[in-house]
Amino acid sequence: MKVSRPIILLFLSLVSYAADVERKDFLPLSLESDAFFEQFNETWASRWKPSHSKRDENFVYRGEWDVEEPTVNPGLKGDKGLVAKTEAAHHAISARLPTPFDNTNNTLVLQYEVKLQKGLECGGAYIKLLSQEGGVSDSVEFSNDTPYQVMFGPDKCGMSNKVHFILRRKNPKTGEYEEKHLKVPPMARIVKTSTLYTLIIKPNQDFEIRINGEVAKAGSLLDSRYFDLTPPKEIDDPNDEKPADWVDDELIPDPNAVKPEDWDEDAPYLIPDPNAVKPEDWDEDAEAYIPDPDAVKPEYWDEEEDGEWIAPKIPNPACEQHGCGPWSAPKIRNPDYKGKWTPELIENPDYKGPWSPRKIPNPEYYEDPTPSNLEPIGALGFELWTMTDSIMFDNIYLGHSIEEAEYIGNNTFLPKVEIEEQIAAANAPQAKYDAEEPEKQIEEQSLVSDLLDKSVDRVLKVYASGKAYWADLLDDPTKTLLNRPGEAFFFASVVVGTITTTFAISTTIVSIFATLFAPSTPQPVKRSEAKERIESVKEKATASDSKVNETEAVKRG
Ligand SMILES: *[C@@H]1O[C@H](CO)[C@@H](O)[C@H](O)[C@H]1NC(C)=O
Ligand SMILES: *[C@@H]1O[C@H](CO)[C@@H](O)[C@H](O)[C@H]1NC(C)=O
Ligand SMILES: *[C@@H]1O[C@H](CO)[C@@H](O)[C@H](O)[C@H]1NC(C)=O
Repeated sequence: MKVSRPIILLFLSLVSYAADVERKDFLPLSLESDAFFEQFNETWASRWKPSHSKRDENFVYRGEWDVEEPTVNPGLKGDKGLVAKTEAAHHAISARLPTPFDNTNNTLVLQYEVKLQKGLECGGAYIKLLSQEGGVSDSVEFSNDTPYQVMFGPDKCGMSNKVHFILRRKNPKTGEYEEKHLKVPPMARIVKTSTLYTLIIKPNQDFEIRINGEVAKAGSLLDSRYFDLTPPKEIDDPNDEKPADWVDDELIPDPNAVKPEDWDEDAPYLIPDPNAVKPEDWDEDAEAYIPDPDAVKPEYWDEEEDGEWIAPKIPNPACEQHGCGPWSAPKIRNPDYKGKWTPELIENPDYKGPWSPRKIPNPEYYEDPTPSNLEPIGALGFELWTMTDSIMFDNIYLGHSIEEAEYIGNNTFLPKVEIEEQIAAANAPQAKYDAEEPEKQIEEQSLVSDLLDKSVDRVLKVYASGKAYWADLLDDPTKTLLNRPGEAFFFASVVVGTITTTFAISTTIVSIFATLFAPSTPQPVKRSEAKERIESVKEKATASDSKVNETEAVKRG
């Protein structure tokens, strides 16, 4: 790799810039209200309880949690956060509130930071406000089945990326809870610096989602553009049946139509061309095949035993100049052909239109004029499946004041993210440069084996996780798919990906063998040709790489 001198110098100056980013000390913030506010100080473990709940062998919350300083793009010195540590695992942790949180006729503000230190391939980073009734307790661990009131925050898998906002509302007619999803949720920020997510629910039924303090979505809970909170007022009468004499054929064959006299159903589709003429030199008497005049009776032929010897036949060479044998005109499409006669279709005078059952009032219909009034909340927590580990959460606020949440954002998130972004910017081009490359070969080799080790480990984890999901899916398909669609998507893409890769690899192997063993192409030429090609591709890649870096470095410098 060729790197010009000025670029190396520029790069070195960037590294020292990264080291120069001033990281202020973290100072704990205290609130005047008694709202829930968590900064993960040294007493965090007395409030937060990790769950190791399991439904069966296959569904275990085996994900580990820890409170630590960030390892990627650090912000304030000494600022710790809660980290989901295990890749491809279910994680659950919750904190009970000292007193149940009640937002009847009052504003609810939920705010927290998410830092995707390794990005987010497939996984959730949302928070749940758990119901006081039936929620977590000393004897009941947090799980997928724990009732909640609000679910809010990022969830991404493959192409699907959203900031969930889900309300769980009870239907008083059936007693069942139903999940009410925000119809078009905003997208989550997939960056390795902190992102601040805020949810506001006001007693006038307005809601607002802010990302990094900016409004990403706002409206009314009662507006059908955002939520369908209530069931339909009317439903099809399940007892109404289609009458036996209902006519639903819109068109029928005209009963008065008669087949025209001159309609010949038997006229053939093809006829001999009446205008064709036999070519003058066509010889009807000549044979198309004649005995081979050059054939000779073999010596071993014994007429007594083998019978009379007959010369084998060959195509008559005379027929190559002109046609031989009986002549017939070529066939053409019959202009008189009409095929089978069918009467024209006319509108059915008895047609009654498509049948639909009559509507009746929905017995499960109810009104929900104040969905902002949630049931009392007893705890909050994270209950996630994630493929990517090292997701960090911090500065969790649950209270009634928008101003308080903004105050927290101004004093914790903003100063932190400023440092994180400076460090991220300074570090961005670092990985690509290696001014001096001592023992490049060895380094690359260990990198490859390292990567291989890691991928084997990963494949095993994905396999175990996928097996567990499959077992759940067989057990209760609807519930599993509804509650954990991200995993279905993820494992489906893994399967498709594996099949594609396997196919690609076997095709490559086959083509390599084909090249090696192809008899007509001398090997050495092929090989050196291939090597040359690889070399030139490498050169090109390096050239364009350093160009990109150059412009990036110049921009930053
Ligand atoms: C730690 O955080 C909790 C909850 O915010 C708070 O009540 C407590 O005073 C803090 N402890 C220290 C030593 O700062
Ligand atoms: C909430 O407000 C409604 C309407 O103003 C009122 O009828 C109700 O009593 C209030 N509920 C509480 C718990 O204050
Ligand atoms: C937060 O910062 C913004 C911008 O500086 C300011 O307008 C706002 O008043 C601050 N809010 C609070 C509650 O400190």
